[in-house]
Amino acid sequence: MFLSDEATKIPLRPAASQIGAADWEVLSHFWYPVAIAAEIADHPAKASLLDVDLVLFRDEKDQVAIALDRCPHRFIRLSSGQVRDGLIECPFHGLRFDGTGQCRHIPSLGRSAKLPQRYAVRTFPARERYGLIWTCLGDPAAHDIPFLPEFADMPAADITFAPVSDWAISAPRQIENFFDLSHLPFVHASTLGGNQDSPLKPGRIEQAADAVTLHAEYSESDGAGGHHLAYYTYRIVLPFVIDFQVHYADEARKPLISCDIASPVSAHVSRVFQLHKVEGGPTAGAALVNMLEAVNAEDRAILAELAFADLPLGQAHEIHLPVDNIAHSYRAGLRALGLGKAD
Ligand code: FES
Ligand SMILES: [Fe+2]
Repeated sequence: MFLSDEATKIPLRPAASQIGAADWEVLSHFWYPVAIAAEIADHPAKASLLDVDLVLFRDEKDQVAIALDRCPHRFIRLSSGQVRDGLIECPFHGLRFDGTGQCRHIPSLGRSAKLPQRYAVRTFPARERYGLIWTCLGDPAAHDIPFLPEFADMPAADITFAPVSDWAISAPRQIENFFDLSHLPFVHASTLGGNQDSPLKPGRIEQAADAVTLHAEYSESDGAGGHHLAYYTYRIVLPFVIDFQVHYADEARKPLISCDIASPVSAHVSRVFQLHKVEGGPTAGAALVNMLEAVNAEDRAILAELAFADLPLGQAHEIHLPVDNIAHSYRAGLRALGLGKAD
């Protein structure tokens, strides 16, 4: 469409979104992280969620505010502007908006002009939890921000964050890859290792209304030809959060306490946040992140070979092996949310 009239609504879900309207509606009511809080400083930051472009900035109270990245005057991206005294200023005609979205200054009207309430940009809730900024495009009361007990009482400064990156893969595919046990000895042969020829026992699954948990054993390489028996627990909080722990049979080895979150930027792009609880200060944190970045690079390389980007929720289209029982339960959980229905 080139021109539109008064009666034509501009829906929040862009017409070009490849996330079907019914799935988009379901997903819009969940909370997702869009940034690491400490990384939002004095410049506007961009984020995209479910194909909706957002701008993040620090308001007059130094709180992070989230607005639609579209100036209500002539639709220029506010993220291309600047933040002045806690107001975001559009670079086109200088309109300034506060953290609630209200327009507070229009240069062409002068400083004393009274501005109507409807002169506002649409905003979304911004909550800081686990050092991340979370938002919800739909009904914020429909769901809670996922509870991550290991990180709940940690000051954000003590949490180790992997560099945030956008993966060219859908959020459910990123989550499935993270809990996929039988790819470990193949994709991660040079990092996590494992025995390609030894059969894998399917893990034990617990299913709850909002989460699916897998308890499984895996034999990790010790880098010297031997192996460590590890106990993996993946608690997948629907739809796209994994609360992940690794404990070792050898209790002298430190456990791994992590979280992987795939925030759905669009149908086939995810912004991935990974949090770790690391003992031993920043040096130990940096070493772990370095090692896991090598693991992530291996995942991204194999996922670049994915020949069908969408995730079929039914059973009919792919082969399912006993060790994929967790994927089966995860997909059932997504279906139970109402996802995967035709528009
Ligand atoms: S388009 Fe933003 S001030 Fe005019
Ligand atoms: Fe992997």
